[in-house]
Amino acid sequence: MHKFPYEIDQTEFKGRRVLVTGGTKGMGQAILHRLHNAGATVASTARSAPVEHPGLFIPADISTAEGTAKIVDTVIGELGGIDILINNVGGSVAPGGGALGLSDEDWAYSLNTNLMAAVRLDRGFLPGMIDRQDGVILHISSIQRRLPLFEATLAYASAKAALSTYSKGLAKEMGPKGIRVNTISPGFIETTAATNLINRLATQDGCSADEARDKLMQSLGGIPIGRPGRPDEVAELAAFLTSNRAMSIHGADYTIDGGTVPTV
Ligand SMILES: NC(=O)c1ccc[n+]([C@@H]2O[C@H](COP(=O)([O-])OP(=O)(O)OC[C@H]3O[C@@H](n4cnc5c(N)ncnc54)[C@H](OP(=O)(O)O)[C@@H]3O)[C@@H](O)[C@H]2O)c1
Repeated sequence: MHKFPYEIDQTEFKGRRVLVTGGTKGMGQAILHRLHNAGATVASTARSAPVEHPGLFIPADISTAEGTAKIVDTVIGELGGIDILINNVGGSVAPGGGALGLSDEDWAYSLNTNLMAAVRLDRGFLPGMIDRQDGVILHISSIQRRLPLFEATLAYASAKAALSTYSKGLAKEMGPKGIRVNTISPGFIETTAATNLINRLATQDGCSADEARDKLMQSLGGIPIGRPGRPDEVAELAAFLTSNRAMSIHGADYTIDGGTVPTV
């Protein structure tokens, strides 16, 4: 169970139905637990079932149209709809080697996982939100949307840029219908995936995990606060943005990166 270093209002999300994609690890898990602890009825989805999970869990591969259709059908069947949709799943599995190392399959995987999964789930849940004139959608993008790295993640960076642009346009369309749409763009956050990467780099380079973490930070040009972010810090931002405390925050893209992006 996730521990949060701050007090949580245990009733703030009471009566709100929340779906967090990829809520079994990393940031998604922290967001799911944060909102569950605040009284929300939660649901999540991932390819592999977690050992422990609050609320409804739907096993599905979100990178396919069949996977997202299964999620929409199950959630609507079980909960009747969703009030808050947090499109968190994303990532890159592409090999290193730069732009020429990326195959059509690498590009398709990145676009399907980081862009189309959100597009398809939004399309599935928006009609219910529009009927109720109430809903909140959050997209988890990345600072790579405007600080693209090319060694292994150019397709990922491009897909996240598309996700951020899509999110902004969707906000313009959905605001008048009572639905708030925002984006969070994290920098280096020490999640399950990031810890695994640090350990892999440490083994590969024959150095300590601390040295491998430093090298990763340097590859981003450094992190002014001197450390990666934590999943619970992203969860707190997500909780704020999806709460009624942020009723006039709409079409925004919040960077949470310890100061990594060097420009305004
Ligand atoms: N960590 C960072 O430094 C960082 C920085 C910027 C942006 N982000 C973004 O933040 C989001 C969360 O990243 P994270 O680091 O927290 O990831 P993570 O620790 O790797 O967790 C990813 C979650 O998504 C699920 N998932 C992955 N692929 C899936 C698929 N095809 N279908 C269904 N579920 C899938 C995973 O479960 P299964 O493996 O069981 O499917 C897991 O629950 C992503 O959009 C990522 O791009 C992360």
